[in-house]
Amino acid sequence: MHVAVVGSGYVGLVAGACLADLGHEVILVDNDPHKLKALKNGQTPIHENFLPELLSRHRGHRLNFSDDLHEAVRASSAIFIAVGTPPTDRGDADLSYVESVAREISSAISEYKIVVEKSTVPVYTSEWVRRIILRNGADPECFDVASNPEFLREGTAVTDFLYPDRIVVGCDTDRAAQVLRKIYEPLTSGSYYVQAGAIPQPDRTSIPAPIIVTTTKSAELIKHASNAFLAMKISFINAVATVCESVGADVNQVCHGIGTDNRIGPRFLNPGIGYGGSCFPKDVMAFRSVARECGYDFRLLDEVMRINEDQRDRFLRKVRSALWTLRGKRLGVLGLAFKGGTDDIRESPAILIVQALLQEGCKITAYDPAAMERTQEVMSSNLKYANSAYEAAAGSDALLILTEWEEFANLDLDRLHGDLKYPIIIDGRNLYDPEVMAASGFTYYSVGRAASHPDGVPTGALKNGNGVKKA
Ligand code: UDX
Repeated sequence: MHVAVVGSGYVGLVAGACLADLGHEVILVDNDPHKLKALKNGQTPIHENFLPELLSRHRGHRLNFSDDLHEAVRASSAIFIAVGTPPTDRGDADLSYVESVAREISSAISEYKIVVEKSTVPVYTSEWVRRIILRNGADPECFDVASNPEFLREGTAVTDFLYPDRIVVGCDTDRAAQVLRKIYEPLTSGSYYVQAGAIPQPDRTSIPAPIIVTTTKSAELIKHASNAFLAMKISFINAVATVCESVGADVNQVCHGIGTDNRIGPRFLNPGIGYGGSCFPKDVMAFRSVARECGYDFRLLDEVMRINEDQRDRFLRKVRSALWTLRGKRLGVLGLAFKGGTDDIRESPAILIVQALLQEGCKITAYDPAAMERTQEVMSSNLKYANSAYEAAAGSDALLILTEWEEFANLDLDRLHGDLKYPIIIDGRNLYDPEVMAASGFTYYSVGRAASHPDGVPTGALKNGNGVKKA
């Protein structure tokens, strides 16, 4: 099928590349000339597994880039809107980009097409998109508006798209549903998975992908409700972690105990320094705002956000309690991205913690496998960067783990012990076993678990008298 994807951000670029891999002819439209030039020249603007392969496989063949929205709409049966919906000062989603695309699409509609919302938008957006297209002159018989929310996670975006738990399609006419069913047919029939060159299947996924057809409004709500629920799950376990710390229980054991209940499930129950990224913070706020507009005071979501912020403050208090005063202290920081496997630092709790510590006068050397360049663009020059975890640790008063990169969970503990000035690790992502850390000579703080100390001595770093470890 001929498909246009408007917006080459995270969702648009991944969706465009994956739709081309399903066999469709895709035009990816963007009005940013720099982005288009980079894409045409073979660059991959985001750090995402399998995306470079897909782009080089389809660029110039089934995947083309253009700034001509009118022509792309004219040539396509389905137009996916994947432009940004950033938060306004009031916390709701700014839909002006969606509106301007809807306006432009209108004049290019001369035969039947579906206009599909792919960006996360509040319920009722589809009605507005329809109204705007009509207002600008399109024939009501020539188009339908549908919602096809995207559930991809950064870092695993390509496999999330191609091996989804489900495909949600919100349509109010059979005609529109048929078009979307056809677009996703390679995934729902399983034909994609047997083709040569299919992106390999990740663990814990089942094929073929089921498709769920709903009304447009239900599909819009499914997206907001999913993200809000997942954020709530994280805040819930972070609150439980706080109780664990107060009573001396181990949150990992609690997670295992509750996560094995099939009704709850083990995923998204990792406590830490709170959720970040371009979706959860924005979407929880936007959903809160949508509910208010619809006359429901969704206060549960306020609490989800409050616990999330508090989690960062609690971590900062932990750093203070481990080091006493902070001014002039040297800290090694592992992780700047909002989660492992990505170079994205939007709403990263790691960055917010680093900023707070810099303000308190700490001297920080940070290392992240992918996000240092992006951090350099937005952070003050006070922050120093290292080329490895060990270099970040070298000579530091303590090491902080702020992002759940796999490489941070597999460090050479003897080497780290030798590199640090004091063997103190404050882990915001629970990557290590407290007993193993104590046995390796570290004073180790984590989330929702008791601090552990070498030989069980609570002030482990002081055991040699002056707090400096033996050479
Ligand atoms: C999320 C949704 O998962 C995805 O379905 C949606 O399309 C976009 O938003 P993403 O933002 O890429 O995806 O990241 P995700 O893996 O969901 O993590 C979000 C944040 O929650 C990260 O900061 C992560 O570190 C944190 N997190 C996640 C936890 O603190 N604990 C967990 O158990 C899981």
